[in-house]
Amino acid sequence: MKFTVVTILPELIEPALAAGVVGRAREAGAIAVATVNPRDFTRDRHRSVDDTPYGGGPGMVMKPEPLLAAIAQATGEPPAHRILLTPAGTPLTQARVRELAALPHVVLVCGRYEGVDERVIELAIDEQLSIGDYVLSGGELAALVVIDAVARFVPGVLGEASSVDDESHSAGLLEYPQYTRPLTLVVEPPGGASGEPAPPRELAVPAILTSGNHGAIAAWRRRQSIERTAQRRPDLFARFRPSAADRKALPPPLHARTHLALVHHPVVDRTGAVITTSLTNFDIHDLARSSLTYGLAGYHIVTPIASQRDKAEHIARLWIDDAHGEHRARALALVRTLPSVEAVIAEIAASHGAAPQVVATSARAESFPGIAHLTPEALRAEASLDPAPLLILLGTGWGLADTLLPGVSRVLAPIEGASDWNHLSVRSAGAVVLDRLFGGHANPDPHNR
Ligand code: 6GU
Repeated sequence: MKFTVVTILPELIEPALAAGVVGRAREAGAIAVATVNPRDFTRDRHRSVDDTPYGGGPGMVMKPEPLLAAIAQATGEPPAHRILLTPAGTPLTQARVRELAALPHVVLVCGRYEGVDERVIELAIDEQLSIGDYVLSGGELAALVVIDAVARFVPGVLGEASSVDDESHSAGLLEYPQYTRPLTLVVEPPGGASGEPAPPRELAVPAILTSGNHGAIAAWRRRQSIERTAQRRPDLFARFRPSAADRKALPPPLHARTHLALVHHPVVDRTGAVITTSLTNFDIHDLARSSLTYGLAGYHIVTPIASQRDKAEHIARLWIDDAHGEHRARALALVRTLPSVEAVIAEIAASHGAAPQVVATSARAESFPGIAHLTPEALRAEASLDPAPLLILLGTGWGLADTLLPGVSRVLAPIEGASDWNHLSVRSAGAVVLDRLFGGHANPDPHNR
């Protein structure tokens, strides 16, 4: 496979490709790398490759004529696929890397300055790639990244023994941690300014890796990969599809151990005073339907007033007993009425055998100070691997009272609308939260549906 790099800084390219895997692959003839310099195609005395932008603004733009001439020469035979490296390109993925490795000849055009004249892109570029969401001073380092990543897939580059291991990204999970000798790494602490010298630190290799139990090692590594992905890359984790074996090793799907509580007390009124609100028929009914739709384990209505609990039970029962409301009966059967959030926690602890992680919701960003406000995506990644049940508290009135704080371990960030008026009804807010946590689009993992 051949790479031709179009660059005004060829001296950046050559040394970076002289050593290591890519260097050996070039020596062995598995890949070839050439450079073409647009400056060699200039005709003016100053050999200028850039000029000021039309319309004004900072920086310089690469002139079209020398760049077009350089690309034309680079393209040659076999006719090349022409890629411009630019932070405005499509992000490079491992899947695209693998496809590029099947091409006979790739031309990598490196932009410098503020960019290249747009007409060059129109005339002589087939694809625009970026290597990440940050800005380099030119495309050269990005071109080197592309060559390195692509070359690994070219036959003969990595040798027979080590087949391309792109597990880390192709399987959608991050790599597990690796260890080698020594079994115990002893490190001397840095010399302190005064007092007793600290004892050396000893860092051991996880015992499982020396157990000789290959099945257990594979399971441990898989688990590490999954946990790292959940912690570091909630975006990848949302697309992760667990295997049948993963399913046995991981906690049950999050939605099936998530409970919703509609809290009528303690909540606040518009002045911030702690009050008890009255039941709303719609909230009982609609949140029950949302709870069943998203596969929750339970829906709890919390009020300390016994007659209000009786009323809630009565309303739920009306629907359950309605001969024509069979589908609703299933939803309303999820309803439980309890006098306090503590009672809900105790009931969940009893039925799941573990206390729930309690998640508060709030319409106001300043609620529950001192606790990080999570996005639903981050909460899902975090809670999916923790086997504890989850209890999501929805506040009526002007929201949950801060007196709940000691029992709350997570707070979901407020739902943002598109206007300056932000007063969703609690049943609407609840539905939005459930969809962002468990909706099919938010979580394409069929295991979590
Ligand atoms: Cl491909 N080029 C430049 N100049 N900056 C970048 C990049 C490419 N990808 C990320 N940042």
